[in-house]
Amino acid sequence: MILTVASFKGGVGKSTSAIHLAAYLQKKAPTLLIDGDVNRSVTNWANRGNPPFKVVDERQAAKYARSYEHIVIDTPARPSHEDLKALVDGCDLLVIPSSPDAFALDALMLTVDALVELDSDRYKILLTIIPPAPSKEGEKARASLTQSGLPVFKTGIRRLIAFQRSALLGVPIDEVDDPRAKQGWEDYQKVGKEILL
Ligand SMILES: Nc1ncnc2c1ncn2[C@@H]1O[C@H](COP(=O)(O)OP(=O)(O)OP(=O)(O)O)[C@@H](O)[C@H]1O
Ligand SMILES: [Mg+2]
Repeated sequence: MILTVASFKGGVGKSTSAIHLAAYLQKKAPTLLIDGDVNRSVTNWANRGNPPFKVVDERQAAKYARSYEHIVIDTPARPSHEDLKALVDGCDLLVIPSSPDAFALDALMLTVDALVELDSDRYKILLTIIPPAPSKEGEKARASLTQSGLPVFKTGIRRLIAFQRSALLGVPIDEVDDPRAKQGWEDYQKVGKEILL
């Protein structure tokens, strides 16, 4: 399985999603996370801690790729329409994280035309950083995306402080000592199951 994670706005949880989907896949088979963003967020994260999977950047990718069953690729924000086609062509599934706030959804909606041109089996939107009840932002975002005919993962990722600790410590959230860390890991596990179905 080759997964690429891309988004139309920065800071919506691409690197966090790439890390946790790689952590999920690694529990099934050897998994490589390719850091394709020159910010090197994932590489720096890996250097801070001790990730359970191999992390390399795109300059090393060709050599390592053949030794791994699953590959997850993190990318920089704001792909152009042309980038989008190449990204989809280069993987089995393009995962597009978006937070449910108006700015992130606007950025996503601007690309609806480009997205609906793609085969809907090749990409899926992942709602991330969803605020807790009583906020209805997550449900509202899901309803409007579905209404626009876009494929959305059934599971969304809740907003949890433990994700920020996971980022600082260089470990996936299931290794963070926080009472709510388990919830974040459960969310990504469910998304992982939807992907491998
Ligand atoms: N579900 C979540 N709950 C709380 N915080 C989160 C969640 N997901 C991500 N974050 C935090 O939000 C910030 C942005 O996340 P991340 O770096 O994964 O986004 P990104 O899309 O990769 O950003 P960039 O466009 O800069 O590469 C980070 O501080 C991260 O720890
Ligand atoms: Mg990132």
